[in-house]
Amino acid sequence: MNKVGSTICLILLHIYLSILVTNSAPETAIVTQIPGFNGTIPSKHYAGYVTVDESHGRNLYYYFVESEGKPSEDPVVLWLNGGPGCSSFDGFIYEHGPFNFEAAKTKESLPTLHLNPYSWTKVSSIIYLDSPAGVGFSYSENETDYQTGDIKTASDTHAFLLKWFELYPEFLANPFFIAGESYAGVYVPTLAYEVLKGIDAGVKPNLNFKGYIVGNGVTDEQIDGNALVPFVHGMGLISDELFEEVNRECNGNFYNSLSDNCTSKLTKVDEDIDGLNVYNILEPCYHGTEAEKITTSYIRLPSSFRKLGETEKPHPVRKRMFGRAWPLRAPVRDGIVPTWPQLINSNNVPCTDGSVANAWLNNEVVRKAIHTAEKSVVSSWDLCTDKISFNHDAGSMIKYHKNLTSRGYRALIFSGDHDMCVPFTGSQAWTRSIGYKIVDEWRPWLSNGQVVGYTQGYDNNLTFLTIKGAGHTVPEYKPQEALDFYKRFLAGLPI
Ligand SMILES: *[C@@H]1O[C@H](CO)[C@@H](O)[C@H](O)[C@H]1NC(C)=O
Ligand SMILES: *[C@@H]1O[C@H](CO)[C@@H](O)[C@H](O)[C@H]1NC(C)=O
Ligand SMILES: *[C@@H]1O[C@H](CO)[C@@H](O)[C@H](O)[C@H]1NC(C)=O
Ligand SMILES: *[C@@H]1O[C@H](CO)[C@@H](O)[C@H](O)[C@H]1NC(C)=O
Ligand SMILES: *[C@@H]1O[C@H](CO)[C@@H](O)[C@H](O)[C@H]1NC(C)=O
Repeated sequence: MNKVGSTICLILLHIYLSILVTNSAPETAIVTQIPGFNGTIPSKHYAGYVTVDESHGRNLYYYFVESEGKPSEDPVVLWLNGGPGCSSFDGFIYEHGPFNFEAAKTKESLPTLHLNPYSWTKVSSIIYLDSPAGVGFSYSENETDYQTGDIKTASDTHAFLLKWFELYPEFLANPFFIAGESYAGVYVPTLAYEVLKGIDAGVKPNLNFKGYIVGNGVTDEQIDGNALVPFVHGMGLISDELFEEVNRECNGNFYNSLSDNCTSKLTKVDEDIDGLNVYNILEPCYHGTEAEKITTSYIRLPSSFRKLGETEKPHPVRKRMFGRAWPLRAPVRDGIVPTWPQLINSNNVPCTDGSVANAWLNNEVVRKAIHTAEKSVVSSWDLCTDKISFNHDAGSMIKYHKNLTSRGYRALIFSGDHDMCVPFTGSQAWTRSIGYKIVDEWRPWLSNGQVVGYTQGYDNNLTFLTIKGAGHTVPEYKPQEALDFYKRFLAGLPI
């Protein structure tokens, strides 16, 4: 080959190489070892930051797990936990991530990580995102950013997605879904709507958005606020007499009591359910230092009830979940939504146990391995933070759901049916209230040969689904069933 020819070759090779480099995941983001895990990582993991606002230095942290199936074809799913203020490592550690975390025997050692046979990464690639800035490992160099709300969070997360897909362009063609739980009942539809507007406006890169998933999600102040009383009555937690009285005094309006008589009946309801674990009425609530003692209200539950709440998860579910949505007396309304630590006005949270996550994510070696900011920038990881002040400024989510589903985006609305935090009665009511024709009438759905919940399918691919015996964070309580419905929904199969 002559000199000119070889020069052209080199140039072509150079171009080819640079295409290769710019067309694949950033090498610096790859996670090569996972402290506490002894085996071979079953798929590629990446972690790092995406800057969503250069002038403010606002940086969102993500942990990306490639599918353990066919990463080149399987859907890519963005996962969001709620709060507001809770880190999406909740999902990674306690719900559907690739590992089950076993608590360390001693305070100094790390948790032991085992492979999770029901990881949602068996069938999809997942981006676990800490959002908004101030949550988990995400941060801003300008602290005014910690005053935020629904609208700003959705636009930041959209900016994140566009930049993320520029970094990982090999995933642009995969079907893309947005999923989350609890307060992410607001994050998911508001973000999906930003994505839709971006697609309509021809914003690049073009996201191959297909649909979304919301679990025990906050949706509508009035419908969700009215859902508790029928739930606690149906579950046998209040008497028929009280149910009749509260209905009479409140006229079905429980979310916004207009009379002293209504308020006093609601107080009676509250007293009856006070000792229960709000995130799963079948689970015990542990109190302070008497951590292992179960309350009398738990003992009162018949054993068949307790059985319903049992899980095949090898490591017990948390004693009481901290990734809250919605404490009974502090419903999500327009305006500032208090974060958990702000609500309870203390750092010492009663009845909670996020110790495995804390031990792992605050470990220096782990933080290095998963590419978090230095401790001087993000001093510690909290499951839920009080660093942010969060304004619920997007109102009811029903208009978003109408818009998204009428545009052909598929929606799965699922509920652990023993969650008292965002009870299924609310999600059942609002999905029905949209008024779409029923195309798959209420029926049981099966997993492993058993009825594990119920579903009703509506026109425009809107599906409501319950998971029997599960609490607020369904995959934490019912991992096998959760992987089953997730897999079927992503594949577009009936559940
Ligand atoms: C880690 O792997 C080594 C060698 O394969 C094994 O001997 C050890 O028991 C493993 N430790 C844990 C905690 O699984
Ligand atoms: C932080 O952001 C606010 C709002 O944009 C701006 O007014 C302020 O100057 C910024 N502060 C710093 C230190 O950059
Ligand atoms: C409220 O309850 C009291 C006592 O049951 C009753 O006498 C009164 O009429 C009620 N008030 C209204 C406005 O219904
Ligand atoms: C959905 O939103 C788009 C973009 O804002 C708007 O043009 C459209 O009319 C809305 N559709 C419905 C059914 O609300
Ligand atoms: C429902 O989703 C399927 C699969 O994506 C699609 O083919 C179908 O057109 C959708 N139906 C409606 C009514 O949007």
